[in-house]
Amino acid sequence: MRYLILLALLLAAPAGAQLYEDQLEPAELGIEELAATVVPPSVYVGPEACRPCHEAAYVKWLGSKHARTSVWLHTRMARTLIAPRHGIKASSPEKSAVCLGCHGTGVDAPAAYRDPGFRIREGVSCEKCHGPGADHVRDPKIDLRRPAETFCAENCHRPKESHAVVGAKPFSFATFYPKISHLEPKQDQ
Ligand code: HEC
Ligand code: HEC
Ligand code: HEC
Repeated sequence: MRYLILLALLLAAPAGAQLYEDQLEPAELGIEELAATVVPPSVYVGPEACRPCHEAAYVKWLGSKHARTSVWLHTRMARTLIAPRHGIKASSPEKSAVCLGCHGTGVDAPAAYRDPGFRIREGVSCEKCHGPGADHVRDPKIDLRRPAETFCAENCHRPKESHAVVGAKPFSFATFYPKISHLEPKQDQ
């Protein structure tokens, strides 16, 4: 419910009150605190590019919290309770590569590796888990990563003292995976 209220507030914001990420073209996006860029294996294209072939996965993702994770960085909780305990130096959480490292996708990629359709505000999107998808979109025979069970806890869902205020239950793959699972029905052949 909190997320719906937050989204409603963001949508109701006066024209011109854009999110930080919206004010910049991906090519211009500079993330404060980014020490170095990492050249990824392919270009990030954003979830809309996956949708034509993976509609069910797209719909499941869009309804999940992963699609909201960058929006959370604009909240008062992020700014006043979590950021100070995390010791970030950036002027605000949504400009911090530290926060966006978990709450966003491909933030450390050089600008040339972000397609114009890619938006950081889309949060933990397909390519966070599967890797950048431009080559696969062009030729689906080029496989993307299938993340292993350990991927979630190793990368983002580890205990964080800074996040105590969130009050999240300790991460359990068995409990949480069904909330985002998007395996496709097997084709009979
Ligand atoms: C290591 C990964 C990681 C980093 C770094 C990180 N977060 Fe998070 N954040 C998470 C995860 C995972 C959750 C979901 C709750 C949980 O499991 O703790 C979360 C939840 C949140 C929420 C909760 C939203 C809600 O209402 O439930 C806020 C706000 C937030 N983070 C802000 C921040 C800010 C601000 C920073 C940077 C100072 C940051 N996070 C850095 C992984 C991270
Ligand atoms: C939070 C991580 C995460 C996100 C975000 C995510 N996926 Fe996945 N995806 C997984 C995992 C984990 C699997 C299961 C891998 C396995 O069991 O082999 C998977 C499997 C898949 C599969 C294989 C399905 C099958 O039946 O074998 C496809 C296709 C896929 N994802 C597409 C997408 C698309 C498209 C998006 C965005 C709209 C997306 N995923 C977002 C983690 C993620
Ligand atoms: C043009 C259609 C098309 C688009 C666009 C597309 N895929 Fe796929 N995808 C496929 C097909 C077909 C397969 C099955 C390939 C196979 O079985 O070898 C597949 C398989 C996958 C798998 C399972 C692992 C693998 O590679 O076999 C994942 C994960 C996946 N896609 C994710 C994505 C993501 C993420 C995007 C967006 C960046 C995306 N796909 C865009 C057609 C597409």
